[in-house]
Amino acid sequence: MLRAILSEQTLNGIVLLRKHLQAAALNNIMGTVFGKRYDLTKCNAEARELQEMRCSTLVPRVKNLVKKIIEEHRNQSQKLSDSSDFIDVLLSLDGTDMLCEDDTVAVLWEMIFRGTDTTGLLTEWVMAELVLNPDSQTQLHQELDLVVGDKTVTDADVAKLPYLQAVIKETLRVHCTPTWFTSFLGKTFLVPLVFKPERFMRSLGGVDVKVRGGDLRLAPFGAGRRVCPGKNLGLVTVSLWVAKLVHHFEWVRDPMNPVDLTEVLKLSSEMKNPLCAKAIPRRCLHTS
Ligand code: HEM
Repeated sequence: MLRAILSEQTLNGIVLLRKHLQAAALNNIMGTVFGKRYDLTKCNAEARELQEMRCSTLVPRVKNLVKKIIEEHRNQSQKLSDSSDFIDVLLSLDGTDMLCEDDTVAVLWEMIFRGTDTTGLLTEWVMAELVLNPDSQTQLHQELDLVVGDKTVTDADVAKLPYLQAVIKETLRVHCTPTWFTSFLGKTFLVPLVFKPERFMRSLGGVDVKVRGGDLRLAPFGAGRRVCPGKNLGLVTVSLWVAKLVHHFEWVRDPMNPVDLTEVLKLSSEMKNPLCAKAIPRRCLHTS
């Protein structure tokens, strides 16, 4: 993703981020669920079919494609290990836990369908806010330079980046449905429309709010029995992508394409006009 962004910036002087995030999100979820990676910059019939199907409800095509991938897993059936994917886990269920084929297809499809756009769109919102709020971006650059330095950002680093977590929480508060911050009264939330990650940092006078469904003041993943099952994967993925995007580039407004925060509510709340910004390289890409 970072290389593709760099070549678009070099070629056009600006980057339309959404398509890079969508490709990365599909690749990420396919890797987790099906153990498959696609290079969407190259011609691949299966990847192309998947991208087309995300936009429609072509049930027979969905079933055929997912069944084919399940069959491939059955053929290489092996014991569960660290490299097993989600299908291997589903196929290993037995007794009353075992799922029939139609239910397996439904569960897998739901994972792809719900897990792809959400991560890409949330990352786009975060990046849009960072372009509009250069002071927050500078603070994140400083945190990344201190904690990660010149090495490659890994998911283990994410837990050591409190300002990054606060930036993501603040984006969820401002842009994602369903978020409930009606009970956020008091001085921390006096200016609710201003993007201010510091609200979520206790060390800076803010409050520490959990976003995974345990605190209904901010519940972007829902709560209770129907809480989003992909919340951990979603948060780690978005955190890692934002960390990498900001570690490698400074994201700057393009005067010809102003950032427009108008929302449109589809399956998720998304930017009506996709983010277009300049990605100025900050460090060399050879390590990622
Ligand atoms: C980071 C971005 C994400 C956000 C903001 C998000 C948000 C949500 C929300 C609000 C719900 C509805 C919860 C309810 O009805 O109370 C939901 C459900 C769901 N999400 Fe996510 N999600 C994200 C990422 C993911 C990922 C990465 C996956 C899969 C790997 C996923 C899979 C699902 C599934 C399968 C459901 C349906 C659960 C059910 O109906 O019981 N989500 N998500």
